[in-house]
This record gives sequence, structure tokens and C-alpha cells, in this order.
Amino acid sequence: MKVSVSPGHNINGTLILPLFEGTDSLLAAHEEGLHTSLKSQINRVLQDGDFKAKLKSTMSILGCEGGKAMLVGLGKEADADIHAYRKAGATVIANRKKAHGTELTARFSDASIEAMGAFAEGMLLRDYSFDHYKQQDEDEEKEGEIDVRITCDEGQESDLTSIIHIHAGVASGVHLSRDLGNRPPNDMYPEAFADQAWEWAKQYDNVKVTIINYAQAVKAGMGGLVAVGMGSARKPCMVIFELNKDKKGRAPMLVGKGITFDTGGISLKPGANMDEMKYDMGGSATVFGTMQALASTGFTGKVNAITCMAENMPSSNAQRPGDVIKTLSGKTIEVLNTDAEGRLVLSDGLWKAGEFDPEYIIDFATLTGACVVALGHEATGLWSNDDDFRTRIHEAGNAVDELAWPMPLLPAFEKEMTNSKIADTRNLGAGRYGGANTAAAFLKQFVPTRNYEKDGEQIPWAHMDIAGTYWGAKTNSMVGHGATGIHVRTMYHLITNG
Ligand code: BES
Ligand code: ZN
Ligand code: ZN
Repeated sequence: MKVSVSPGHNINGTLILPLFEGTDSLLAAHEEGLHTSLKSQINRVLQDGDFKAKLKSTMSILGCEGGKAMLVGLGKEADADIHAYRKAGATVIANRKKAHGTELTARFSDASIEAMGAFAEGMLLRDYSFDHYKQQDEDEEKEGEIDVRITCDEGQESDLTSIIHIHAGVASGVHLSRDLGNRPPNDMYPEAFADQAWEWAKQYDNVKVTIINYAQAVKAGMGGLVAVGMGSARKPCMVIFELNKDKKGRAPMLVGKGITFDTGGISLKPGANMDEMKYDMGGSATVFGTMQALASTGFTGKVNAITCMAENMPSSNAQRPGDVIKTLSGKTIEVLNTDAEGRLVLSDGLWKAGEFDPEYIIDFATLTGACVVALGHEATGLWSNDDDFRTRIHEAGNAVDELAWPMPLLPAFEKEMTNSKIADTRNLGAGRYGGANTAAAFLKQFVPTRNYEKDGEQIPWAHMDIAGTYWGAKTNSMVGHGATGIHVRTMYHLITNG
């Protein structure tokens, strides 16, 4: 999608008119340059109450000699915050048909620059399809890129243009995350992810990608990553991203679970819907997408990231329930269920993060079904060893309408995960209750202290369980189906707003 901004009243293609509930005729600001027949048709619709302008509703006016239009609801004026504008923009793209054409002109009446920016953001985000695996229908002509023009007042042009430029860059990060997640697991395996990151980095002078391959992971003692990945012919690896690495000082560190397919391993999952486990690399996709959002918008701060890539397969080389493995931290884990594999790869990723002396660490993982039971598809589970930090992330999520809900990190759960008879930790809780919390408590055992000092304080850390929000989130207005790319925008907001 191309979005441009300009003052002036000419209308290219279909006119997009965002309206508040209760609008019963066009306002002067809408009418300039509008053909009288289109104007009267729209006024008729509004007067008759046939379009109520409820949020996320649209009405198309086609076949009128004065041109084409799409009315789009913003809901009640008093409730119309930037989230409403973003949703309305997304609704336009979701409901756009071939008949509307690819040229659109959006005209607002008295909207702020932020509101118009959010509307464009919604359009940009929703303009996504994953059709690389479909043959092009011979009869079907491929539609070109959507070309949107936003009309604004003189003097708003440059600020609105720069806001939209940022939204477009961030949307490219969200779309990258979605592409990675949607890619089938025969093509998206650990080394394919690493290769893509390597190729991607070439376009930026200020990005460095380092790949720790299987042999290097074994040598380094990354026992968690190795144990999960060794059952697959597609060997595991770790990918390290560094943005603006020459900048001095501490930087955020993002860590992602990247299980490119989770069969459960020897603790095999049931067959129904197992295909969905291709999304089990959603955490690594969030991390990669965030790096793209930051790099493409020219962010000048330092940011680091680690993704832990493996395919969890049953085979004669696979780990067994009962195995005890030694992780990079030196701590051992009794593996009681090979399907609780995300925490094993993350144990090495979190520990490795300490080498960067990070300001804070945030991990993203499609970690537990229990989190989906707790929060459905509506919110990500959010745990932290630092209450203020947790609040900051919760607020960053609210600012971009990506909910992350505070969850408890209780000592009792830590005790439950450290009471193995034969190892330092166990990868399974004692019972089936509180499974998302026991998983978080397990991860906490692998959060490093500053400079790995014995008895030092842990680095501020947060864990985000995106099992319910990375896909299957039907109420996410920015997404039609498939991977959602959740939290690229949250992270962009958190990192760039200090
Ligand atoms: N990848 C799954 C978690 C998951 C389940 C994500 C459903 C999305 C939807 C994870 O590796 C897993 O299998 N976790 C187990 C943990 C259990 C064995 C302690 C689970 O949630 O059942
Ligand atoms: Zn699993
Ligand atoms: Zn998993």
C-alpha cells in the first residue's frame, strides 16, 4: 500500500468518508469538490438512517454517476480515540472489494493528525495477505498496490506524512512477523529462519546478525536448545540480532521462542489441529519483526535480540521424558515432558542474554495452552520480576491496543518447579493447575544477574506468553486470519518512547 498526504479537494478513485454515529448529513468539510449526485445519494442514506456509523461498519455507494464512495463508521464521537480510528481504517481495507478499485481518497472532518495517522495505520496493517503458496488464477487479473491519498489541511501535511512514514515502517515489521508465522513448517525450519535473518541484515549498515549453529551450540553447552532440537533432521540454532551495536550503554534485549514445529516430541501431541504448531515460532517472529520495525524507521538506539530456534520431533535421537539435561547456566533440568520444550530453549536464550549486560530482558513465547485457558485470545500473559517494569509494558500494550495482562510470579510456583529429586529444576509442574504460572516461574530460574554475579540481583525481566494472541485471535481487527504479528507495535512503542 502506498499512502500519500496532500491538501486540496480533488478525489482520486473511491472516496472514503469516516463518520461519527448520529451524522445525518454531510458536513461542509466533506462536500468540497463532491459531485452533486454523489453528495445527494450520501445525504439520502444518512437522512434515512440507513448508515448508522457504528464502529467497524461500512457502506459502499457504487453505481452512482458522481463517483464511488465508502462510508465508514467511527462510532460515537465521544469514544472516538485513536484506537477507533485505527479500527475504522482497518475496516475499510477488510471490506474493500474489487469494485472499489485500488485508488482511495480519505477525507476527514476536523480530525487530529494523530487520528488521521491512526486511520492510515489501520489501513496499512490490515493490507496483508499470505498467498505465496497459491497459484495465480489465470482469469483473475492481479490487482495492483492500493494507493491511498489522505486529504488534510494546509500545514498538517508534513507532520502527518512523517507519522504515516513511521506507521508504514512498523507495519512492515508486523507483516514480516506474520509472514514468518504463516510460512509452512517444511519451509520455515531453524536454519531457514537464520538464513532469512542473515539476508535481511544485509540491507542495513547498523544491523549485525550472528548465527550460533548446532555444533557451536553443543560446544557452548546450550543443553536446552540442543536437547529440544536434536530429534530433528533440521538442526537447532540460535540467532543473535544487534542493532546499533556501537552505541554505548545498556540496551533492551528481546528473546524469542522459535519452535518451528512442535509435535510434542516423545510426549507426542494429539493429532487434531497439530498443524497449528507451525506457529510455535511466534516469539521469534515477534522479535525479528520488532528489529525490522526499528531498523526500517531509522531508530538510532541500541537494541539486541536472541531467538532460540528448534524443531521438536520424536525420533530415535530425540530426548526422552526422564532425561536430565545441563543448560548454559550450569543448572540442570529434569525433563518430565518433552512437550514443555519452549522453556528448555529459552533457558539458554535468557542466560545468554546476560552477556549483553542488558537494560532489561523481555521474552516472547507461545509457551502454554494454560495461558490460552486463562486469557483466551484476548490478552497476552505478562509476568515480571519487577512490578514497575511490568506496568510499563502493560501501558505500552494499552497505548497500541495490544493487551498484555499482569499475571503472578509467586514463590510457591518457583518452589514447585525446583523440587526435582535429581536435578536443579523440573520442566513440569506437580499438578495441572496454574500451568502458565509454573512455566513463568521456571523461566525465572534462568534470568541472569548483572555480570552473572553470584547472589546479585536479577536483571529486570518480563515474560510474555503469546500462545493465545499470536494466532487464532478472531477479535483482532488488524488481522484477517493466521499469524497476528502481535507485540511488534507494543515493543516499538516501549523501546522508542524511552
Ligand atoms: N507450544 C505449546 C503451547 C501451546 C499450546 C501454544 C496450545 C498454543 C496453543 C507448548 O510447547 C506446550 O506444548 N506446552 C504444554 C506444556 C505442558 C506439557 C506442561 C501445554 O501447554 O500443554
Ligand atoms: Zn510443546
Ligand atoms: Zn511449544
